[in-house]
Amino acid sequence: MTFLDGDDTAAAAAPGRGQTVCVTGAGGYIGSWIVKLLLERGYTVRGTVRNPDDAKNAHLRALPGAAERLSLCGADLLDAGALRAAIAGCHGVFHTASPVTDDPEEMVEPAVRGTRYVIDAAAESGTVRRVVLTSSIGAVAMDPNRAPDVVVDESCWSDLEFCKKTKNWYCYGKAVAEQAAWEAAAARGVDLVVVNPVLVQGPALQPSVNASLMHVLKYLNGSAKTYANAVQAYVHVRDAADAHVRVFEAPGAAGRYLCADAVLHREDVVRILRKFFPEYPVPERCSDEVNPRKQLYKVSNQRLRDLGMEFTPAAQALYETVICFQEKGILPVLPPSSPQKADP
Ligand SMILES: NC(=O)c1ccc[n+]([C@@H]2O[C@H](COP(=O)([O-])OP(=O)(O)OC[C@H]3O[C@@H](n4cnc5c(N)ncnc54)[C@H](OP(=O)(O)O)[C@@H]3O)[C@@H](O)[C@H]2O)c1
Repeated sequence: MTFLDGDDTAAAAAPGRGQTVCVTGAGGYIGSWIVKLLLERGYTVRGTVRNPDDAKNAHLRALPGAAERLSLCGADLLDAGALRAAIAGCHGVFHTASPVTDDPEEMVEPAVRGTRYVIDAAAESGTVRRVVLTSSIGAVAMDPNRAPDVVVDESCWSDLEFCKKTKNWYCYGKAVAEQAAWEAAAARGVDLVVVNPVLVQGPALQPSVNASLMHVLKYLNGSAKTYANAVQAYVHVRDAADAHVRVFEAPGAAGRYLCADAVLHREDVVRILRKFFPEYPVPERCSDEVNPRKQLYKVSNQRLRDLGMEFTPAAQALYETVICFQEKGILPVLPPSSPQKADP
């Protein structure tokens, strides 16, 4: 999991030297980390964002190596021509851009059409050797009929009818977009590899708080008074980005790769946050005092381990998320109210 330091002396000896890759959604949480790791490994990166002049993308231009090897271009997911232009001449594509919302209209069509356009553009380029798609655990695990002792692995797919019935349009959109990617890649002869991250935590490079960071922020800033009776798997953002780069570089990589460290009950999450940051109003009560505690499920990360990945503990990812909020001024730095504060 170690990468070269991000200076151009290191880049001169790096595996990406002489290769240009496109990262869609470059300014987002995971996209920014993928760009950072690719620059550290010597790649030349073409990042797509919706508005290259927006100040929210300034962090990309400040990354080590960006001045020499990063260009940004504007591309909406519904603009096939802009995606084609961004991908033309590239050796690889990391397709991370996607709406992250439960609004069905905003979610499904851009996710699916954008993914098809990216695969088509890769096929037409004649230069792209592999496309890495950022799918999600949401395309894998939403299945009410899975037995509790079944280990969730890459063979699992979310139940589309269940997603529709529960109005989980994000998971529905991610599952349908991933299916569309597999179909289009098979039809167009594109080498596609998919990463399915679970809920991502850890320091943000971008200035804004995205949906997955809000998951933790609400437990620290007083906006959530209780925690849910729910379970979720977690992974560090650097590991999520690392997984993308690994599956791009490993010649034999193929299929889907679940990217997860550990499954936690929300009670575990608030306990970790309270232990390291007792100064914040972390909720102590579950919103559901009637039903039995939701059981943890097991998720396999064996395929990425087989590629040499070592996962950062989820507690460390949560800790670093909060430190990042403090450093960005999103949370005030308060005096610790207990002596438990220490490195996780
Ligand atoms: N974070 C997680 O916990 C997690 C877990 C599993 C999978 N994922 C997947 O990882 C990918 C990145 O998510 P993230 O967490 O990094 O979210 P994020 O910070 O919200 O980034 C999403 C990116 O997608 C771009 N985007 C959204 N709609 C677009 C559109 N119509 N046209 C062009 N670009 C569009 C955004 O561009 P703008 O900057 O222009 O808005 C942004 O760069 C997504 O595919 C998401 O489904 C995330």
